[in-house]
Amino acid sequence: TIRIGVLTSGGDAPGMNAAVRAVVRTGISRGCEVYAIYEGYQGLIQGGKLIRRMDWSSVGGIIHRGGTIIGTARSAEFRTREGRRRAAANLLALGIDRLVIIGGDGSLTGADLFRREWPELVAELVEAGEVSSAQATAHPHLRIVGIVGSIDNDFCGTDMTIGADTALHRITEAIDAISSTAASHQRTFVIEVMGRNCGYLALMGAIAGGADWALIPEMPPQMDDWEKHMCDVLRIGREHGRRDSIVVVAEGACDRHGKPITASYVRKVLEERLGEDTRVTILGHVQRGGAPSAFDRWMSSLLGATAVEELLAAGPEAEPKLIGLRENRVVRLPLMTCVTDTRQVAEAIAQHDYERAMALRGNSFVE
Ligand code: F6P
Repeated sequence: TIRIGVLTSGGDAPGMNAAVRAVVRTGISRGCEVYAIYEGYQGLIQGGKLIRRMDWSSVGGIIHRGGTIIGTARSAEFRTREGRRRAAANLLALGIDRLVIIGGDGSLTGADLFRREWPELVAELVEAGEVSSAQATAHPHLRIVGIVGSIDNDFCGTDMTIGADTALHRITEAIDAISSTAASHQRTFVIEVMGRNCGYLALMGAIAGGADWALIPEMPPQMDDWEKHMCDVLRIGREHGRRDSIVVVAEGACDRHGKPITASYVRKVLEERLGEDTRVTILGHVQRGGAPSAFDRWMSSLLGATAVEELLAAGPEAEPKLIGLRENRVVRLPLMTCVTDTRQVAEAIAQHDYERAMALRGNSFVE
């Protein structure tokens, strides 16, 4: 029997449950045993009741739920070799040698390292008498498949990551709500949204919510006195009868010298230069929680199902794949190329090389 493990790792993202459900049910319908590994890599290391066999109904009634029912964590221990050795022992004890990892770039890098180390870890475990040579011989390789779960939509290779669409809906609803109170008082609001070094949520939220101005990490304002430009646009809006003024700031926004642009700084500028009654709203984790959108439910379902198909089709030493979405098609991409490109985007942004960052990202939403 083929035994597959599935875990969610890193920040939770709405849609992760749909992916877990699809992995479990596709696995079962393909005749495999599927195990949920609770609390991310921590569950892999601790084993015991944190690794549980799932049946069809264990994942019933979860597709509409936010977060991840199998829990997630950022595990420092899995970054140590000893942690990974214990993880290998737990998997071998259950005969699991295929994993679906749903997480961000750190989680996927960890998974790939674990896969590469596997033969060595197994040999060590046999030598230490922790694992029988029969168990070792039965599972000489670890196969992994990655799916990106992150509201940030910051991953190279895939057009969308699990949770980004839901977070965008949440942001849009928040901007709508704020606009109505802003308009009543003729106030200005600065709204800070999540996304780390990715401006997807801020830009798309600003467009969808009809905001006046957006600040994103990938396109810092080019002029030195960008504050004047922003204020002019807002002032002209007021002169034309606009009652609400909304500025959306990505949490990773910077000026062209790399200096962070914070929501409170923008507020200060607007108050001082425009004399506007300005409020700041930091949307925070409401963007990440709650029920997934229809898009996140179906996309995650397709990705989860394809992940199992890939695990069953891939050769024992095949390069691991990332299951993503590109131009409305589910695609299998080289996992580590996508991870490396994603890292390089972050580096390019840190070095203010925005053209390179956008070229690498490939799912460029700004031409
Ligand atoms: O990566 C998802 C994300 O929500 C980012 O947008 C944000 O910067 C970060 O996680 C917040 O992390 P934490 O939940 O650990 O505060």
